[in-house]
Formats: sequence, structure tokens, C-alpha cells
Amino acid sequence: MHSEFWHNCWQQQRIGFHQYDVHPLLPVLVSQLSWDRSKTVFAPLCGKSLDLWWLSQQGKVIGAELSELACQQFYQQQEQKFSVSAQGDFQYFSHQSVDIWQGDYFALKPEQLDEIGLIYDRAALIALPSQMRIDYVKQLKKLCTGPVSLLLLSLEYPQEEMSGPPFSVTEQEVRQLFDYSASVELVALRNLTGRPFAQRQFNVSKLVEKAYWIRW
Ligand SMILES: C[S@@+](CC[C@H](N)C(=O)[O-])C[C@H]1O[C@@H](n2cnc3c(N)ncnc32)[C@H](O)[C@@H]1O
Repeated sequence: MHSEFWHNCWQQQRIGFHQYDVHPLLPVLVSQLSWDRSKTVFAPLCGKSLDLWWLSQQGKVIGAELSELACQQFYQQQEQKFSVSAQGDFQYFSHQSVDIWQGDYFALKPEQLDEIGLIYDRAALIALPSQMRIDYVKQLKKLCTGPVSLLLLSLEYPQEEMSGPPFSVTEQEVRQLFDYSASVELVALRNLTGRPFAQRQFNVSKLVEKAYWIRW
């Protein structure tokens, strides 16, 4: 998925992946799972997700997002004050509780992030085609050296019935991608067959969202 594709989505507001509410699994899982809450939460490919505002009640949040428009909407739609500074190839959106590196996630350097305790991935890994998923995980490992926990919300459907994004990412692939980690635990499952995925309705025979708790 090239950056052009995502910039077009934001310019034309074709953002069916965006949810108008906090993800229903997020409060439930966060209350059950433990990580070092003195450290920062990192949300790669964050869009303008309201989940970041919810997570900011737990501690400092840093997002990474390609689209400047998405970042502006993220703060403006919640009437939140923010400042922006140019930092190399990035713009840094700064706020009391949620900052965003606006630019290419794959170009981020570990020194641009605080010490990360929790990574939150909702519709980030599944937004990418298969080779990019490998690079995405490699970059995540480089950026967050651990000990760190990742809450990953992934999606499975018969890939031949629809072309992504979102792509189908099987449990087997998740386990392969994170084979370096200490543990990969399936912690929740939602059967969304026949139901919408955020603002979109997919014509597929099976649709399952899976939540993983991954630690390294
Ligand atoms: C499917 S959306 C998910 C957004 C968000 N996680 C959510 O739950 O609403 C994927 C997002 O990744 C962003 N994105 C895609 N490629 C990126 C990259 N290389 N670096 C940073 N963000 C990227 C897109 O602009 C888009 O907002």
C-alpha cells in the first residue's frame, strides 16, 4: 500500500475504517491485561482514532500517522489545542497527553519515541499487504526494544472473497510474524460475520476479529 493511496483516502474522506466510538474490546482488555503503566503507549498507523483519547487516560500516548489531514482532524474534532513543529522528514504534533509523529512509520527512529510499555495496533497490521506486514513487524521490534506488550486487533476472512485493505491476517501468520516474542496469546474473539467493520459492510462469508496479547 503506497503512501499515495492513504493520502487519497484522507483527502477524499474515504475512511470507512474510522470508528465513531472507542473500540468495544479496548476498555475490557485493558482492565484485564497488565503492562508497565509508567511507560508510554505507542499507536502506529493511528489515523484519528478515538481509542488514543481513551488510552491517554492510562498515560502518555504517541501515535504515528502518514496523513497531516488525519492529525489535524484528530485534535480539531475534539477541540484540543496542539502545536506542530517540523522535525526532519516528520512533523511533530504535540499535545498535553497525545503526540503524533506525522510522516512515514517506516522511517521512524527509536530515539524519536519514549520508552514504550504498550503498543496498540487497531487496523494497522491489517492495513498492509503481506511483505509490508513483515517490514512493519521488523520496524516495531526495532522501535520498541522491550520489555513491551502489544495489544493487536486483527481480522480474518476468506482473502479470495475480497481484496484488502483491510487484509485477512490469520492466527498462523500472527504467530510467525511475532516468532521472536516471548508469548503470543489470543485473548478475545468477535464474530463479525454479516456485521459491519467500523463504517464498512463486507460481502464475505466469514469475518472474525481477534485480539492478541503479545509480549517481548
Ligand atoms: C486502516 S487505517 C487505521 C487507522 C487507525 N488505526 C484506526 O483504527 O482508525 C490505516 C492508517 O495508517 C496510515 N498509514 C498508512 N501507511 C502509513 C505509513 N507508512 N506511516 C504512517 N501511517 C501510515 C493511513 O494514513 C491510515 O490512517
